[in-house]
Amino acid sequence: MCISSIAVFASGNGSNAAQLMRYFSAHERIGVRLVVTNNKNAGVTEVAKTFEVPVEVFTNEAIAEGTPLLDVLSDYKINTIVLAGFLRKIPAALIDAFPSRIINIHPSLLPKFGGKGMYGDFVHQAVLEAKENKTGITIHTIDERYDEGNQLAQFEVALSQDDTLDTLRSKVQALEHKHFAETIDHYITTLESYT
Ligand code: GRF
Repeated sequence: MCISSIAVFASGNGSNAAQLMRYFSAHERIGVRLVVTNNKNAGVTEVAKTFEVPVEVFTNEAIAEGTPLLDVLSDYKINTIVLAGFLRKIPAALIDAFPSRIINIHPSLLPKFGGKGMYGDFVHQAVLEAKENKTGITIHTIDERYDEGNQLAQFEVALSQDDTLDTLRSKVQALEHKHFAETIDHYITTLESYT
């Protein structure tokens, strides 16, 4: 029986969304039941088709307002939201309705290189410019502020002087694909054991 139904929110390619759908398609209790996007042309919509997961597209205004999103999430009986490259701010109504149940992945070791405007290559470029000797990913629940909330896990990778934007991006993406689904699985399973 599926106890936890996940909606993946994504605006881009959806490589993490794909990995989540692949991982949870074989899971007994947890499933990805919906993809939410603000961009009908985003790669993630094709990914969802491959995995036969329905997609709901919302305008930026509807997302900011919150109620249309809440209605659809309720229709699909969603109880967990996973943000995988979703570039819109999550409205307070959603944060209130899903306490501790909205999980984000950020491509740096927060609190370093987080905050408004820090996403994708902006993060990686800043890491390179700061000549960091390591970077990584942070998986966390969200609250009203960007990139804050409870950290669930961090994973690191070493950097050298030879790293470029491309190699750094690949290293971070490899960490994301390896650890995101498993961390969510572990977190939801722990939450379920208390209910
Ligand atoms: C990932 O790097 C993730 O850390 C960030 O957005 C990116 C999404 O990439 N939040 P993809 O669309 O899953 O390939």
